[in-house]
Amino acid sequence: MTVRIIPVEPFDLVVFGATGDLSRRKLLPALFQRDLAGQIPAEARVIGAARTAQSSEEFRATAREAIACEVGEHEEAATRFLKRLHYATVDDSRADAFEALVSLLAAEPDRIRVFYLATAPELFGPLCARLRELGLVHERSRVVLEKPLGKDLASSCAVNDAVGEVFPEHCIYRIDHYLGKETVQNLMALRFANALFEPLWNAAHVDHVQITAVESLGVEGRAGYYDTAGAMRDMVQNHILQLLCLVAMEPPSELGADAVRDEKLKVLKALRPVARPAISHSVVRGQYRAGVAGGKAVPGYTDELGRTSSTETFVALRADIANWRWSGVPFYLRTGKRLPVRMSEIVVSFRPIPHSVFEDRAGIIRPNHLVIRLQPDEGVKLWLMIKDPGPGGMRLKQVPLDMSFAEAFGVRHPDAYERLLLDVVRGDQTLFMRRDEVEAAWAWIDPVMEAWRELDEPPKPYPAGTWGPTAAIALIERDGRTWHEDMAWTRHDTDMA
Ligand code: BG6
Repeated sequence: MTVRIIPVEPFDLVVFGATGDLSRRKLLPALFQRDLAGQIPAEARVIGAARTAQSSEEFRATAREAIACEVGEHEEAATRFLKRLHYATVDDSRADAFEALVSLLAAEPDRIRVFYLATAPELFGPLCARLRELGLVHERSRVVLEKPLGKDLASSCAVNDAVGEVFPEHCIYRIDHYLGKETVQNLMALRFANALFEPLWNAAHVDHVQITAVESLGVEGRAGYYDTAGAMRDMVQNHILQLLCLVAMEPPSELGADAVRDEKLKVLKALRPVARPAISHSVVRGQYRAGVAGGKAVPGYTDELGRTSSTETFVALRADIANWRWSGVPFYLRTGKRLPVRMSEIVVSFRPIPHSVFEDRAGIIRPNHLVIRLQPDEGVKLWLMIKDPGPGGMRLKQVPLDMSFAEAFGVRHPDAYERLLLDVVRGDQTLFMRRDEVEAAWAWIDPVMEAWRELDEPPKPYPAGTWGPTAAIALIERDGRTWHEDMAWTRHDTDMA
């Protein structure tokens, strides 16, 4: 299948925090992939900016290693790509320490300018103010913000206010890389390009929804950041609630950025506050202890951190959406580190049939469910009951109508950042979070975190390599349901470091 690649306009992309992990593991490899695909025009430049004093040549050498490590050896293409790379040493505390950047940008005053802030969020406001002061922000400029966008509603508002002083909302791109994942976009296609699902997509036909995003990795080298965040802020407030929005939102009138984000916002606002008295029942916090992952003994969270901590590395909770479409349909959300596999999926479970015409010996009739697998094996499975083929009378069996994307299309799945970075250049905000969405998500999360603080209970322990605390199983089983676990689909059981 040939895909038409449309190159974007020439641009200058400045990455602040260019010597960091995100730039090395995600941004540079993603830009290289798009370059390889012929989507980046020859004139485009990528300017790394950070405090580390180094030359453009040195920056190119580390970029070459990063590309070889993440994408593989592409000698000729990498050499061509690296020519686009420049480096400017900057110091956010001194205006005169931006000279190199100012003079690089001055060479192309009219081009689309993207400022990617892959830095600590405390720097977002000061950096934006500095860019304005230096006259680097013009009407074709955009700013990209990496999470975390605050640690609660108040701090998130403060970051948004500071950035908003310099950039208008239509120039602010708050990245949530889950929205750039291929299967997440496919969720929109599934819902809105098929007539089949929409009539069933409501409380009359859906029994419950499960959203799981779990990893087998621990916190690796990020314990410093992670300990200030925890699973609720790191995954639920953004990625998981964004997935919930895409499942639950009303069909937008078109796929324009504001039409989609208006609908997502309505979902966030309709989330029923988690009731305080029942909080330790309806929200489970866990923390991994030493255990076994990928066949190897691994340390516990606090061993990795080197001190005690009450930060959660696992959360499971029940969310309810108080509107006509979803009233009474629980959304079970689950995320955690050091679980048996790396796997993210959305399961829409339909209600059981109202009456069986079959004899008992035909077997149990299980409700249909639709599984949208984000990773590792992207695809969609619709589980149906059929007659088991062959003699022996009517024997019923549950089988999936299986569309595994790798098998069906045989194409490489672009990394989320490839899509999102070019969307910024194209000026398309559909897959980015608007300020009000981020704040509505915090407004729902804040009371839960506050209740945890008041309760002051330690997170429930679970051994690394297991599915979290047993209370997470009890959470869903109390409602007469079970977590979906289709291990046959999970071929790889470890994630990449
Ligand atoms: C990041 C979190 O946003 O998402 C990490 O900060 C997490 O803690 C990661 O590991 C998961 O992303 P993915 O794409 O590997 O599922």
